[in-house]
Amino acid sequence: MRLLVLASALFGVVVAQDTFQPLGVPFKGPVKTWSPIAAQVIFSNLTAPRGIVFDSQQNLLVVERGFGVTAFTPTGITSSPTSPSGWIRRVVIKNPNFTHGIEIDGNRLLVSTASQVLAYKYDASTRSASATPVVLVDNLPADGEINTHTLLVEKRNGQTSLLVGTGPLTNIDTTARNAASGRSQVRRFTEAPIIGPVSPSPAPFSWLSGQLVAYGIRNPAGFAFSHEPVIASLNGYPNLYIVENGASIDQVPGFTPKFANDNPADELERVGGTISNLGQYFGFPDCTTLWNPTADTTNLPQYASLPRGAQFSLNLDPIRNDAWCKDTGNNKPPSLSFQAHSVPLDIKFYGPAPTNIRSLPATWSGDAFVSFRGSFNRDPPTGYGVVRVPFPLGASESKLGYSFLIQAADLSVCPGNCIRPVGLAFGKNGQLYVSSDSTGELFVLSQSLLQPV
Ligand SMILES: *[C@@H]1O[C@H](CO)[C@@H](O)[C@H](O)[C@H]1NC(C)=O
Ligand SMILES: *[C@@H]1O[C@H](CO)[C@@H](O)[C@H](O)[C@H]1NC(C)=O
Repeated sequence: MRLLVLASALFGVVVAQDTFQPLGVPFKGPVKTWSPIAAQVIFSNLTAPRGIVFDSQQNLLVVERGFGVTAFTPTGITSSPTSPSGWIRRVVIKNPNFTHGIEIDGNRLLVSTASQVLAYKYDASTRSASATPVVLVDNLPADGEINTHTLLVEKRNGQTSLLVGTGPLTNIDTTARNAASGRSQVRRFTEAPIIGPVSPSPAPFSWLSGQLVAYGIRNPAGFAFSHEPVIASLNGYPNLYIVENGASIDQVPGFTPKFANDNPADELERVGGTISNLGQYFGFPDCTTLWNPTADTTNLPQYASLPRGAQFSLNLDPIRNDAWCKDTGNNKPPSLSFQAHSVPLDIKFYGPAPTNIRSLPATWSGDAFVSFRGSFNRDPPTGYGVVRVPFPLGASESKLGYSFLIQAADLSVCPGNCIRPVGLAFGKNGQLYVSSDSTGELFVLSQSLLQPV
């Protein structure tokens, strides 16, 4: 596929190199979609695209991990063969340290590195950022197996807060039991305004000074507030839903490869309802969630009679046994279980649905959408798609509680060239944009592809 290279002079000195990709480029690997959803690639050959967010001018900003932040802008509808419809990619910030997180707050662009949250001054009309950032949050644990830190801006009662997540030191990290470890948790930083002027720089928040929102969540890779009503009489705090990737338990004594192929479940955790519910423990590393009770009835018959979603202990600590894990005073169970090894990495709520031929169905307003990056150690593979989780939870027509909108067409060849969805963002016309890191693609899900998106 030919890329047109456009060089545009910005402010006479900075030369931004833009690249263009026309619509119609196929997916690297075949996908299947479920009616009424259609999928279209909007850009290819990117450097591990991770977190994505729209700016105020509807440019899609993307963290290309190990490269920087890039902006994607549609050319609009053309019928000219010499200037086809497509998308323009502009480099906003080159910085190989960005790992995943990205958010916009007014004229500030927030990104995460392994150890910090940075704020750049950002101009959506030129898709350009200040040369140097302010450090907003410092001392994030950077030495862990997972150093991606998801970001979420919260606006409430005239205050701006920033929520930030951290992962574990190791696959099974016993230090994460203790909230003071700073690992496998979500914290919240509030100040009015949280983001001061770029100059003079306010002192950064130190990671452990943030309010604890939840801990014991191995990799809280995606979190978002639902559209469920807030109960004001209870000093209400909106429901925050966090997707969690479970640990690999194949090396944990007492379990078998057959059992670990289908356990534990990945999870959807709910935090909130009231302020006093913040700071609870969700089990990692001690307690986890059953996906398939009958995965190995020969060697592990004790799980066969338990329901999907039951809490069980990995028996890493004699006190934190099965009975301890089942007590919701010790360990909060998930609100929904996802198939083991799905690897959920983002969650976004839809709505209110705009009236547009491209929007997702209006009846899906209030539902959650979750990216599944997909398994690396399950046979056969699973995930490699995007699912819809109808809300309120339990209202799903499917027994699972969620259903696929798009998935790699042949899971048996994954990862290969299969999509590995990571970041999600809704456009103003109600389409769902998705990044796929290992295939280097951005694509869009909508109801109609009659017109370029
Ligand atoms: C992406 O890169 C591959 C390998 O260099 C090339 O064959 C393909 O045409 C590129 N795709 C696009 C859309 O530029
Ligand atoms: C990336 O991080 C390294 C190590 O902290 C630092 O030396 C370097 O300046 C950073 N790069 C940029 C572009 O900020």
